[in-house]
Amino acid sequence: MSRSAHPAGPRHADVLPEGGPAAAPADLNRLDGRVWPGGAARDPDTGALTFAGIDVRELAREFGTPAYLIDEDDWRRRARAWVEAFGADADVFYAGKSFLSVAIAKWAAEEGLHLDVCSGGELAVALRAGFPAARLGFHGNNKSVAELERAVAAGVGRVIVDSHDEIERLAALAAEHGVRQRVMVRVTAGVEAHTHEFIATAHEDQKFGFSLAGGAAAEAVSRILKHGEHLELIGLHSHIGSQIFDTAGFEVAAHRLTEALAAIKRDHGVELPELDLGGGLGIAYTEADDPAPVVETARRLKEIVARECDAAGLAHPRLSVEPGRAIAGPPGITLYEVGTVKPLPGLRTYVSVDGGMSDNIRTALYDAEYTVRLVNRESTDEPMLSRVVGKHCESGDIVVRDAWLPADTAPGDLLAVAATGAYCRSMASNYNHVLKPPVIAVRAGEARVIVRRETEDDLLGLDLG
Ligand code: LLP
Repeated sequence: MSRSAHPAGPRHADVLPEGGPAAAPADLNRLDGRVWPGGAARDPDTGALTFAGIDVRELAREFGTPAYLIDEDDWRRRARAWVEAFGADADVFYAGKSFLSVAIAKWAAEEGLHLDVCSGGELAVALRAGFPAARLGFHGNNKSVAELERAVAAGVGRVIVDSHDEIERLAALAAEHGVRQRVMVRVTAGVEAHTHEFIATAHEDQKFGFSLAGGAAAEAVSRILKHGEHLELIGLHSHIGSQIFDTAGFEVAAHRLTEALAAIKRDHGVELPELDLGGGLGIAYTEADDPAPVVETARRLKEIVARECDAAGLAHPRLSVEPGRAIAGPPGITLYEVGTVKPLPGLRTYVSVDGGMSDNIRTALYDAEYTVRLVNRESTDEPMLSRVVGKHCESGDIVVRDAWLPADTAPGDLLAVAATGAYCRSMASNYNHVLKPPVIAVRAGEARVIVRRETEDDLLGLDLG
């Protein structure tokens, strides 16, 4: 098919549907540095995207599409920035749920991160990578006895306990193994944060944690202290939400947590040495998102905790945080090939790519917004209001709901979606028996497959007929 324009599709801002996308950007080729990884740039000669020194056309030829690409230097730089910003008196736990593989666990270890895992599978990846067990935190509201046993046997540095049942199970396992397991209590501080809004009186009707307000957290602390021979209570943990741009929610949570620490000191005569504020710091998926630099966030969070502890007459606890998205999201992009282009007169043009909701469920699940660019070349054609969709048998199979692409976008072109490094591969599925894309780490002109593409044999290997 020729690179024809699609005259029937709307192209101009004056045909924008109501409640639809923002006006077309002035330059459809531009790569905003807040949204795209540090190693993403247009080749001045060809206009194609180079990714950490390699032309994406070459990557597509060598590894196929769709493919997840990670700018390894950018990933490591972000990890280091977190470690440095929080300093020696805090620990940065990378939230493995955002994306974990053996290579990633090794990068995390090398860059001085701790690692938060929340299932036996994530724990297995960390252990396979030789991640130091003492730097692992184990989360989850329903860890099985087998998972807990594996964690205890491996010497996991902290288990974040989430139910009274778990406290009893863990105490028994620690006794069996003759160890004293370090634990934190996951509390619900009654704060819920999302992007710029937070609710200081969030309802507590959720599966995670022990309620501070309702007294369950105090009860959990008492029970753990009674198991002092086998459980060592090191602190409290709270996680208030995700894609947060503002520290106001953390401020309220820190206030309630320090109140709880003061009450524990009063009731039990123990001053807990650690406080974990969880993850949730936001990233730029589009140019409209403007996250604060990590140095700023770290300074504010440390200040908030110090101020609250001073006011409560408590020694400053060692702080930990658990960023996932903020480290893994921005360095990752997804590379797709366009398969079909279907203009819907008066509406928009549907551009179908060779992946979809199986490699990025976030648009369908959360109405997530993404930035997409034509990347095998530049184009000066006019903007075409588009929807980038996948190949699945479902109309909700949308990758980018509202996109402006050049009107000459055609089958065979490559598209890249930015900021897909977190919660895309880790939430990928085999819906419609579509095979999961590989993950390619690119660094200084060298590409390495860190998770290979799934094959039909992988798929059929599970099917016993
Ligand atoms: N710590 C705890 C206890 C968490 O539950 C989470 C995320 C994190 C840390 C990391 O949060 P982050 O810094 O990555 O926002 N699937 C959703 C996100 C679910 C997050 C669940 N917990 C998404 O795709 O947006």
